[in-house]
Amino acid sequence: MSVTLVKTKKLPASTPIFCTSPSSWDADSKLLSPAQRAWAKAVGFAGKVDTHTLIADEKGGIALVLAGVRGADDPYALAALPQALPLGRYRLAEEGLALDPQAAALSWSLGDYVFDAYKARGRAGAELLLADGPEAQRGLAVATAMCATRDLVNTPAEDMGPAHLANAVKLVGKPHGAKVKEIVGDALLKQNFPAIHAVGRAAAADRAPRLIELTWGNPKHPRLSLVGKGVCFDSGGLDIKPADGMRLMKKDMGGAANALGLAALVMALKLPVHLQLLIPAVENAISGNAFRPGDVFRTRKGLTIEIGNTDAEGRVVLCDAMAYACEAKPDLLIDMATLTGAARVALGPELPALFTRDMALGRELVDLGLQERDPLWHMPLWQPYQALIETPMADVSNSGSSPMAGAVTAALFLDRFVPAEQAWLHLDLFAWTNLSRPGRPVGGEAQTIRTLIHYLERRYSA
Ligand code: BES
Ligand code: MN
Ligand code: ZN
Repeated sequence: MSVTLVKTKKLPASTPIFCTSPSSWDADSKLLSPAQRAWAKAVGFAGKVDTHTLIADEKGGIALVLAGVRGADDPYALAALPQALPLGRYRLAEEGLALDPQAAALSWSLGDYVFDAYKARGRAGAELLLADGPEAQRGLAVATAMCATRDLVNTPAEDMGPAHLANAVKLVGKPHGAKVKEIVGDALLKQNFPAIHAVGRAAAADRAPRLIELTWGNPKHPRLSLVGKGVCFDSGGLDIKPADGMRLMKKDMGGAANALGLAALVMALKLPVHLQLLIPAVENAISGNAFRPGDVFRTRKGLTIEIGNTDAEGRVVLCDAMAYACEAKPDLLIDMATLTGAARVALGPELPALFTRDMALGRELVDLGLQERDPLWHMPLWQPYQALIETPMADVSNSGSSPMAGAVTAALFLDRFVPAEQAWLHLDLFAWTNLSRPGRPVGGEAQTIRTLIHYLERRYSA
């Protein structure tokens, strides 16, 4: 990450970046010399978002970078710069639009992000020097969490199986003194997590299903329970996916990656909560012992489920993890999952679906998401559709009897495992960027982490 926080008031030699925006350019440009203003005009720079121009000094060096940004607190404000500017050190100019240190640190780091673990990187990014302070530090903490989430999603399934995911949780937890436990393979049956076992049992022995549990914080603080869908690869199981549908399924642990990113932030920002992170980690594989359509399993909660479709595996692993989370009656339960294609049909890749019984909280989070430019949209837990997941064979079916409202019926399946009085947020997200933009390269994506950490800070601030 090429943001360096500098302690001294006086930053080392570096090129100033003069920020402006389409609406403030007229006023901001008056701060430039007549020659600089003329140059900007000559090259057509007018503060347009994500554009920049270099201005030479009389010795042929770079005197200044002019950069167009959306706003002072935009999380992608500087994202177009780190990979576009000549290598070197930069700082924010004292004149022009004054960027939030947090937005500066975050947007520069996101703009610098490349997933190059399997490839020689073409070049390093330019470096931004920022005065150290709590805001800049928070920006870096958010960027670190988001980039770690992206890395986990981007890593191929071959190198990101259930055991690798458990290692990632341990690595994140260790510097914060968190405890991490795993229940692996047949121990899941002994400790009553039959649904997680059923989905993951067909995978190779070194990729055995497991429940990963991280705990952190003071047990006297309110308990916050985060659950993330950790399907390390989703072949669909015996109801195998067609090639197109399987192509991106390394990202089916995107809920787990996002929940871990959020957990990392909760710990880094030392929220006064007793944190529990639960990741049911499995590979939805195919072999002689794979779970089958028509099978019925008794889940941890005691409810029986009929497998209508082995490709609706996410809700099956989540139901045991969420039932376990609810046994401790957390103050708040949040689950994150790449749960349904239907949520993407409804809202597209950029807008995670939020399900909550609390309408006021739903609205609050939608507003916060817009404010943070980390959006989500409230969808209904429409109880009449419970009829769509009824089956004569068991208490509930894991797939809807109709193709309609697939994201709602998936959420309603989970709803059966969460007591009515339990505060609960369910996020059905894509965890992937399809369309490259500054700070958002194609690949794994962190979604709703910034919105949720902001909300959690609000909920738990003293
Ligand atoms: N992991 C998929 C959902 C998914 C697919 C998310 C594509 C994002 C992009 C999930 O396990 C799944 O396969 N769901 C099925 C459910 C159906 C069989 C009831 C779906 O959405 O088609
Ligand atoms: Mn599936
Ligand atoms: Zn899946």
